[in-house]
Amino acid sequence: MPLSTKHLLGIKEISEQDIWQILETAVRFKEVINRPIKKVPSLRDITIANVFFENSTRTRISFELAERRLSADVVNFTASSSSVAKGETLLDTINNILAMKVDMIVMRHPSPGAPHFLAKYVNASIINAGDGTHEHPTQALLDVYSIQEYFGRIQGIKVVIVGDIMHSRVALSNIFALKKLGAEVAVCGPLSLIPRYISTLGVHVFEHVQQALLWCDVANVLRIQLERQKVKAFPSLREYALYYGINKELLSSLNKRILILHPGPINRGIELTSDVADSEHSIILQQVENGVAIRMAVLYLLAENIQIGNFQ
Ligand code: CP
Repeated sequence: MPLSTKHLLGIKEISEQDIWQILETAVRFKEVINRPIKKVPSLRDITIANVFFENSTRTRISFELAERRLSADVVNFTASSSSVAKGETLLDTINNILAMKVDMIVMRHPSPGAPHFLAKYVNASIINAGDGTHEHPTQALLDVYSIQEYFGRIQGIKVVIVGDIMHSRVALSNIFALKKLGAEVAVCGPLSLIPRYISTLGVHVFEHVQQALLWCDVANVLRIQLERQKVKAFPSLREYALYYGINKELLSSLNKRILILHPGPINRGIELTSDVADSEHSIILQQVENGVAIRMAVLYLLAENIQIGNFQ
């Protein structure tokens, strides 16, 4: 069954049924990417442009690998080396790319809502690869996939998101995805980094990291996004690491096993020490592997709608 949507703009907009369809399809693609021949011909007739207006390592490479493993034609666009630097608008840039018979756009953009704007004005399928501080839907999908893979379920699993909630698109997309799939969700961090609206999303708030870790089954640990902070939210990174950093000693004090996730990039020694990031508690690199399978599933299911002429 294809997805009930033409675009993947955010987790807020997609149904629980569509999320499960993506997760189940990703199981099949994870098997494909672990074969000696990691390629299938499913998207031979589809052309995809990866349009990145912001830096990325994992998401950009993961999408490109997913596209190539589905046999799509792929073009990559980086804003800094494009005519955007000469003053071209977002809509003109995208319309020029689409005039070259591109079917799908994967876009990362610093402005919240940029993919939603595009989806209104262009005819291609748009996939949000991160829009400012708003949403990062494929990151949330790969996070819930990784939790489901580890525990065999999402329902009732207690997940705390630790760190800079205020500036994090990963936090918001994770909250939407986890709540839709029946997890219990909490956030933890300095109150200056937790938005006031957070309780309206049905999540608990922990101010103390040890209490949060004692409560949870999974801690999804976020980077402090200094580049997005207009005013200083805490005195120093050293102080943040002292009060909110997760180290081996803290984990050992819990007397229970919790799972550590991190979307990357990690700032080692700030939100996580290396002896936690590289420990048996951490599934950070499994998340990255699962990201390719999730993105293959998203691309494959959205392309089905193009191939059968839905949403024309
Ligand atoms: N997790 C994530 O979005 O990483 P990148 O910024 O490297 O893509």
